[in-house]
Amino acid sequence: MTTTALPPAPALPTARGPLSARVLTALAAPGPLAVLDTAGVAAADPYGEDPQLALYALYELHYRGFAGVPDEREWEPALMPLRRALEDRFLAALRADVPGGGSAAEVLGALLVEPAGHSGSVAYHLEHEGTKEQLREYAALRSLYHLKEADPHQWVIPRLTGRAKAGMVAIEYDEYGAGRAEHMHARLFADLMTDLGLETRYGHYVDAAPAPALAVVNLMTLLGLRRALRGALVGHFACVEVTSSPGSRRLAAAMRRTGAGPAAEHFYAEHVEADAVHEQVVRREVIGGLLAEEPGLEADVAFGAEATTLLEDHLSTHLLTAWRAGRPALRQPG
Ligand SMILES: [Fe+2]
Ligand SMILES: [Fe+2]
Repeated sequence: MTTTALPPAPALPTARGPLSARVLTALAAPGPLAVLDTAGVAAADPYGEDPQLALYALYELHYRGFAGVPDEREWEPALMPLRRALEDRFLAALRADVPGGGSAAEVLGALLVEPAGHSGSVAYHLEHEGTKEQLREYAALRSLYHLKEADPHQWVIPRLTGRAKAGMVAIEYDEYGAGRAEHMHARLFADLMTDLGLETRYGHYVDAAPAPALAVVNLMTLLGLRRALRGALVGHFACVEVTSSPGSRRLAAAMRRTGAGPAAEHFYAEHVEADAVHEQVVRREVIGGLLAEEPGLEADVAFGAEATTLLEDHLSTHLLTAWRAGRPALRQPG
């Protein structure tokens, strides 16, 4: 048996305003913490750089943490009021901005129809005209999730029962490589990054990630961590699985067209097949099972899917606006 040392935790990111500075300063501070002030949260743009990075940094304590930050800070009471205020502001904005009113089946059904023209589709752009550099930028931003692929969704498992739980675990078993570390999707994504000449270290691209990329990941963590939002987590997860297969087909084609490399193509090719199956399981077993037991969660399932679509649309707009203007989509250092 071989043992490998755990890779070092990532460095703390750089603050983007007063809220993230307050969080990052506290995380790095030695000794007991005074309760962090919530001032400024209500007035901040809930999708903006500063609150999204503040939330992202707080959430990372539940995953790998940061170098120099004690593990015990994960449940530090002094951090909770600010985290709660940031979450509530984000959630209130999402609830106000999603269309709402549709059933879970209607919302997920609408995702199956690709809009004509594809003008807002990043996958379509990358398939047909994306440059290798744009593919690198896309992979760098997606690494915030894919290097911990499936982790945010695990938290819902203890909150489910019966068919919903069994279906969820069956899907996640695939995401985690069906018992083989080299097949874990997070590992396949690291191999994709290597093909593209990217740094595969966990957390490396956080400073380069603009707010819309952070918000997509913050949503999954928020829904995963709050049991009250278990219906929304399931709706979010269904949205990811339903849209993954067609999107992955385009991204695999983009990797092939640009000669990105076999591992880069494989990651997306694998998702074309796997997520076509996952989509069926998530609709029939996970959503079907959950709503059979808890029909009152129907609106939350729809909300989770719509909030995911909204934030993915924000990210697509950011990427396509930058690329069509000939600008990089990543935040530049300094
Ligand atoms: Fe996956
Ligand atoms: Fe999947």
